[in-house]
Amino acid sequence: MSIPYPPEPFRIKVTEPIRLIPREERETALQAAGYNLFSLKAEDIFIDLLTDSGTGAMSQEQWAAIMRGDESYAGARSYHRLKAAVEDIFGFKYFVPTHQGRAAENILSAVMVKRDQWVPSNMHFDTTDANIRARGGRPANLVIDEAADPANPHPFKGDMDIAKLKAFIARYGREKIPFGMITVTNNAGGGQPVSMANLKAVAEVYHEAGIPFFIDAARYAENCFFIKQREPGYEHKSVKEIAREMFSLADGMCMSAKKDAIVNIGGLLCLNDEKVFADIKNELILREGFPTYGGLAGRDLDAMATGLYEGLDEAYLAYRLNQTLYLATRLNEAGIPTIQPAGGHAVYVVANEILPHIPNYEVPAQSLAVELYREGAVRGCEIGSVMFACLDPETSQWHYPALELLRLAIPRRTYTQSHMDYVADMLAAIKARARDLRGYKFTYAPELLRHFTARFEPL
Ligand code: F0G
Repeated sequence: MSIPYPPEPFRIKVTEPIRLIPREERETALQAAGYNLFSLKAEDIFIDLLTDSGTGAMSQEQWAAIMRGDESYAGARSYHRLKAAVEDIFGFKYFVPTHQGRAAENILSAVMVKRDQWVPSNMHFDTTDANIRARGGRPANLVIDEAADPANPHPFKGDMDIAKLKAFIARYGREKIPFGMITVTNNAGGGQPVSMANLKAVAEVYHEAGIPFFIDAARYAENCFFIKQREPGYEHKSVKEIAREMFSLADGMCMSAKKDAIVNIGGLLCLNDEKVFADIKNELILREGFPTYGGLAGRDLDAMATGLYEGLDEAYLAYRLNQTLYLATRLNEAGIPTIQPAGGHAVYVVANEILPHIPNYEVPAQSLAVELYREGAVRGCEIGSVMFACLDPETSQWHYPALELLRLAIPRRTYTQSHMDYVADMLAAIKARARDLRGYKFTYAPELLRHFTARFEPL
């Protein structure tokens, strides 16, 4: 039996039409796109689950805040409203706005990472990984082993492996580690949360070694709600109190506000170190803008200030996490395996279990993603061999990721229960004829970040 669907804690005041184009048109669109879903026209998509980033619906308060936006170049009222919210929720001494998460990562890496230094985390998101590498640094992923097993129901699969972290620090030493990180929730590992106990242990290990600790806070509110639901001792605390406790453990954070601040664009970089902050401001002025707007319009700062509080609303969070769980449960009931337990922002379908006859070099998760578009004009995101397979330059051997996943990321406050049912029905129909699906071969692949622009042909 499916879990009950939570009634949305909002009603619809503005609508955006979506259109289901006929099957023949979908086939033509797929061919024109080289079977790469990033290359489709968004208007040819019925339900778009490519990402939950910047794709959520803003509230009436956010739209009203946009009208109040102050576009003064320096010291705008919008900046001061954002500053008050950031200080209230996160509690760091200093902050700058940035245009999105990766801009914060870029500035942090530019200021702190030197060649051949290491930055450990549970798992870095791909832009964080790339920004560390762009400065000559080396990212390291030290998540617990349970994270690699999709069926394992561990409640905090985003946790860092403390023994691995200690061994890592002992091996490389403080001088080689300019800062350490943790990502909440762990997007690259299935949207899985990190426990407060683990955050405390991580902070202690970093601090004993004298290493500053930064949190990638893109989905911190969802993570804090999981702590409230799953970690003994937190059931009676408010999500905001849990967030305050989480950030009190850290020396700074970077955040894509396009997720849990429910805005279409925006980011944050916060920290306590005055000297590093001075360097960050200089770098920001060079790349993003003056420190009181950081690459955004005043109205964006106001939308973010309002959205930060809405992202912490517990009625919203209960609905949000339950919507994800609902879709995962409906898929599991249809015999479609997903990473367990359901993550916060997305359902991750284990494509290689549905398509065991397609070898990894024929990109099974891409085949499933294309088929889901063909079947119902639903767009998901391949997280498998297209995104992560890499050629070892020394051995000339291809390395393939352990999991071939199709991520169905759910935009915030955007789709309803009938949309989720539709997605589940489309995947169930594909599952019933999974044996007929074939793999794909690359006809074009750039060297880096190939999933964005690659082209394919069906085999
Ligand atoms: N950190 C995490 C954990 C993320 O998931 C993302 C973006 C970023 C940083 C970068 O933020 O996009 O604002 O520059 N994730 C999106 C996704 C793109 O689809 O998962 P950004």
